Amino acid sequence: MFLNMAETSSSDNRERERPQFGTRNLPVDGNIFEHNAWDNVTWDEEQERLAQQKVNENSVVTISSEELLKYETEANKYWDKFYGIHYNKFFKDRHWLLIEFPELASNTVKQDTEKPMRAALTEQDRIFGDKHIKILDLPCKDGCRIFEIGCGVGNTVFPILMYNTDPKLFVYCCDFSAKAIDILQQSPAYNVNRCKAFVLDITQETWTTPFEPESLDIVVLIFVLSAIHPDKMQTVVQQIHKYLKPRGIVLFRDYGRYDQAQLRFKKGKCLGKNFYVRGDGTRVYFFLQEEVRKLFISNGFIEEQNFVDRRLQVNRGKQLKMYRIWVQAKYRKVS
Ligand SMILES: C[S@@+](CC[C@H](N)C(=O)[O-])C[C@H]1O[C@@H](n2cnc3c(N)ncnc32)[C@H](O)[C@@H]1O
Repeated sequence: MFLNMAETSSSDNRERERPQFGTRNLPVDGNIFEHNAWDNVTWDEEQERLAQQKVNENSVVTISSEELLKYETEANKYWDKFYGIHYNKFFKDRHWLLIEFPELASNTVKQDTEKPMRAALTEQDRIFGDKHIKILDLPCKDGCRIFEIGCGVGNTVFPILMYNTDPKLFVYCCDFSAKAIDILQQSPAYNVNRCKAFVLDITQETWTTPFEPESLDIVVLIFVLSAIHPDKMQTVVQQIHKYLKPRGIVLFRDYGRYDQAQLRFKKGKCLGKNFYVRGDGTRVYFFLQEEVRKLFISNGFIEEQNFVDRRLQVNRGKQLKMYRIWVQAKYRKVS
């Protein structure tokens, strides 16, 4: 799975390679191959046109309706198989998330420079070069209750448990792959006093959860909405709204339109507009910033932040350029 691999390794490299997070901008007439990655890359009209052309070419749906249905009804089986093969070795722990989403460890202070999270957490927003990370206040009263949806084998949950030192923190997490949840629960970092992982298909109209409606402070959606059928996204957001406290927040990061991975899909892999199936049967959607905005605002949220994160990743050995595009956003349930 090219896409996620690139996402994961770039994220990890980010901490080690950058002079300062988010500030490595490509100088005009600079040598692209001087570094592995460049931030805040802009596109010109020609690049946009070529990307659209690629998508037009690879988005002719040739998959039968029976197959489309199979990918939908057996979606969890494809992910079970994925985790059966890769176990917990595919995605790396997303330590960088705590920099993008400081709310996940809002009580943490800079104390251990050995840990990958370098930046100190402050009360103010952070500005990294051109990038402005807005830090939201939380409704948490007696310990924060965080829920990660589509947690896989815990690559987001474990960094939260590691960095958030609040003794009253509780992290719930779910995935519809029973295999993923099983692997997560086997981890030595899985602490039942601070965390509960359970199996849930979030596309179901009704959720069975170990918590009550209006009880969560933060819901985390990291590369998960893209894995479900676009027709079901609305239902998922409505359910999130139901379980969040008034003023509770959603932290979102996912694949953006014209990301390199979208352009690399071959003909015959498209399931619908900007929605594709990978070779292993798992699916992926590529979002526009406005689509994410509409999805949340039309379901009772206000927008706190929504930006497109563009990075140029470079394979210096092969002299290859890869344009990565992600949408990152924060929403708040209207009180
Ligand atoms: C790309 S992975 C991301 C995993 C994790 N959030 C991370 O960032 O490492 C997408 C995850 O969403 C899960 N998923 C997909 N559809 C789901 C659904 N309908 N209900 C619950 N989980 C789902 C998959 O099993 C998979 O673990």
